[in-house]
Amino acid sequence: WMFIGEAPGAEEDKQGEPFVGRAGQLLTAMIRALGLRREDVFIANVLKCRPPGNRDPRPGEAASCRGYLERQVALVDPTLVVAVGRIAAQSLLATETPLAKLRGKVHSFGARSWPLVVTYHPAYLLRSPGEKRKAWQDLLHAQQLVARLQQESSGGGRA
Ligand code: URA
Repeated sequence: WMFIGEAPGAEEDKQGEPFVGRAGQLLTAMIRALGLRREDVFIANVLKCRPPGNRDPRPGEAASCRGYLERQVALVDPTLVVAVGRIAAQSLLATETPLAKLRGKVHSFGARSWPLVVTYHPAYLLRSPGEKRKAWQDLLHAQQLVARLQQESSGGGRA
C-alpha cells in the first residue's frame, strides 16, 4: 500500500516525515484499522516542501515535485496507491473532478498504471467526523481490491 497526501505541514516540515501531526495520527489509526502497521505501508506527499502559510499547492509546484514522486512510486512498486484527499487525488489524476465523484472507482497512476483509489483527507475527517464512515467504506473497498490483486499476481486468479 502507498498512501499519497498533499504536502508536509508544520510538524512534518520540522520532523522531515510525512503525516506525523494530528492528521497523521488519524491516518495511522486508519492504517491500523486495516490490520496493517505504519511500517507496512509507504507514505508520501505530492509536494515535498510545505507551501507557505499552508496554502493549497499550486499546479506548478506539484509539477516540480512530480519526477521525485514518480520515482518513489516506481521504487515502492505498490499493489495499490491511495490518494489521500482532494488535492492529492486531483493532482495525481490530473483532473478537476470533485473528490466525491472520484471515490468508489479504481483509477490508475503513472508509468506502470498502478491501481489508485481515493479517499478523504484525515484533516478533513477531523473537521467533519460524520464523514469517517465513508472513508472507512473506501478503505474496505481498497482492502478487497488489494486482496484480489495479490491473488491474481500469485497466480491464484481465475483461469
Ligand atoms: N497533510 C498531508 O497531506 N500530508 C502530510 O504529510 C501531513 C498533512
